[in-house]
Amino acid sequence: MSEQKVTLADVKTSYKRWAGVYDRVFGAVLQDGRNKLLRKVAKLQPKSIIEIGVGTGLLLPHYPPTARVVGVDVSEDMLTIARERIAKHNLTNTRVELSDGESLPFKDGEFECVVLPYVISVTPNPKALLHEAMRLCSADGHVIIANHFSGSKTWALLEKVAEPIAAKIGFHSNFSYDEHIGQSPLKVVEVEPANLLGLSKVVVGKP
Ligand SMILES: C[S@@+](CC[C@H](N)C(=O)[O-])C[C@H]1O[C@@H](n2cnc3c(N)ncnc32)[C@H](O)[C@@H]1O
Repeated sequence: MSEQKVTLADVKTSYKRWAGVYDRVFGAVLQDGRNKLLRKVAKLQPKSIIEIGVGTGLLLPHYPPTARVVGVDVSEDMLTIARERIAKHNLTNTRVELSDGESLPFKDGEFECVVLPYVISVTPNPKALLHEAMRLCSADGHVIIANHFSGSKTWALLEKVAEPIAAKIGFHSNFSYDEHIGQSPLKVVEVEPANLLGLSKVVVGKP
C-alpha cells in the first residue's frame, strides 16, 4: 500500500488544530501504552531522558524525578501545554524545546534513555527519527518506543475503520513493525503489546 507523503509543515498544522483537545481525545485511549513505557523507564532508572515528540507533556510528571528530562517537539502549540504542565507540577528537572526530532542539537550518546511515544509514525521520515534517537542514546542506554503497528490480523480487520481516524492525527495507519523496527539497526530486547486489542506495542531496544 502506498504511504502518504507527510511534511513537517503538515505535522505542525495538524497539531496546531489538535493541541487544545489532544489530552481529552488521545489521553486515555493511548494511556495503556504510556503506562507500560513508563514502567520500563522506572525499572531502568536512567539519569537522563529525552522524549522526542513530547506533545502536551502527558508523560513528563511521571518520569523519575532524579533524571534530567528534555522534551522536544515541532509544534509550539503542543509545547505551550507541556510548559504549563511543567509549571503546574513544578518539574525543576524538566525542560522542553522546539526542535525537529529528525535532526537534534544534542551530542552523540548524551541520553541514557530516548523515549518515542506515538511519534515514529507521525514524523515525515520515521527512519531518520529512529536513526537520530539511536545517535543520542548512550552505548549502554535504551530507546523505548510506543506505537501502533500494522500487520496483525486484528489490525487488518480494523484498518479500514482506523485509517480515517489515524489520518486525522497525522498517523500513518499502515505502519509496519518489520519495516520500521525489525529491519532497523535497533537491537530489540523486549516487545510488549499495548492499548485496545494489543494494536500498539511498547518496544525496548539498544543502539
Ligand atoms: C501523537 S502525538 C504524541 C505526543 C505524546 N508523546 C503523547 O504520548 O501523547 C505526536 C507528537 O509528535 C510531534 N512530532 C511529529 N514529528 C516530529 C518531529 N519530527 N520532531 C519532533 N516532534 C514531532 C507532533 O508535533 C506531536 O506533538
